[in-house]
Amino acid sequence: MNKQEMIQLSEEHLLHVYNRFPVVLSHGEGVYLYDTDGRKYLDFGSGIGVMAFGYGNKEYEDALVEQIHKITHTSNLYYHEPMLEAAKKICDVSGMDKVFFTNSGAEAIEGALKTAKKYAYTMRGADSYEVIAMGHSFHGRTVGALSVTGTEHYREPFYPLMDGVKFADFNDLSSVEAVLTDQTCAIIMETIQGEGGIYPAEEAFLHAIRKLCDERKILLILDEIQCGMGRSGEMFAFQKYGVKPDILTTAKALGAGVPVGAFLVTEEVAKHSLVPGDHGTTYGGNPLVTAAVSKTIDLMKEQKILEHVQELTPFLEETLEEIVQRYPFVTSHRGMGFMQGLVLTVPVGEVVRKCLENGLVVLSAGADVLRLLPPLVMDRDGILEMKEKLCNVLDTYL
Ligand SMILES: Cc1ncc(COP(=O)(O)O)c(C=O)c1O
Repeated sequence: MNKQEMIQLSEEHLLHVYNRFPVVLSHGEGVYLYDTDGRKYLDFGSGIGVMAFGYGNKEYEDALVEQIHKITHTSNLYYHEPMLEAAKKICDVSGMDKVFFTNSGAEAIEGALKTAKKYAYTMRGADSYEVIAMGHSFHGRTVGALSVTGTEHYREPFYPLMDGVKFADFNDLSSVEAVLTDQTCAIIMETIQGEGGIYPAEEAFLHAIRKLCDERKILLILDEIQCGMGRSGEMFAFQKYGVKPDILTTAKALGAGVPVGAFLVTEEVAKHSLVPGDHGTTYGGNPLVTAAVSKTIDLMKEQKILEHVQELTPFLEETLEEIVQRYPFVTSHRGMGFMQGLVLTVPVGEVVRKCLENGLVVLSAGADVLRLLPPLVMDRDGILEMKEKLCNVLDTYL
């Protein structure tokens, strides 16, 4: 089948909820992707923040193959070694006490919301069900996750959504206080907003939110589905701030390429929230995906991924600053670690498409941000190549 036939067949059978680029990817190697025409792309998207080690990491692949030969799935009715190992490792690196594995980020959010509601129900009664979420946030496409996603355009066709959600402005404490009531059970926010446009939480804001939650006995849910697992230069971005959530969500790079997410809670939350019968999943945390989680965490340590991201972040940021200085329509850059955004006044969707045509995979975020989420193994040469390819595209706007 040629490329055009593959695209046509896909469009015939796939529900049209994505406007896909006319590229059929076939495989990856290191930090490069290849399409069926043999074209090569430098990857600064990592499958939306998933492929932490790039493509073809032998140790990671061997671990998955080994697990496939043993057992890929059981159910959550039994114990198995990959899950217990992954659970111990993710609790260790996050500082949280207990974990529930899910199949996606959105499901991790669902679990986090249910846990917060059950905690408040147990501690304060059925009235405490309100959740405060942030404008421009993104937490996923399922009904609960959509209910706390701060973009009206995503929510509007699906009303009525979950009851009791109030929105505040990210990094604006007074807007949070304005919607706080005795019924508030949780505040949910991304530590670094991703889809909304790469906005890191301000230090003072996150500390003030933590204090507010402590004073009012409200749970703080930090969504690190995009910014967690090493992307910020720490295993989790909240560790940079010295603030700990009561509930943490993670996914994307958690399994570095297999569909797995998780929500994690403190002992205190675990003690007073979900009990057998309250929550479950058939696939969640099966032997295959938890073998991937376990290996991901091992490799992050062995290959010193956090140190690598920390070491190269200044170079990446300097490179982005040079781009800002060179083009009047690139107004600023912001981000943390290997999660960076360039603010453009030219159409960002068009720039993303032109980059792809020039052999560079980048993403957009919000209305005007070019988003860079390279594999965490991206090196200096890769950053220089990104700059060259991106500048080739940006030059066309001068
Ligand atoms: C911060 C954040 N939360 C939740 C989600 C939803 O994750 P998933 O697409 O795996 O359901 C995403 C996905 O982009 C995200 O960036």
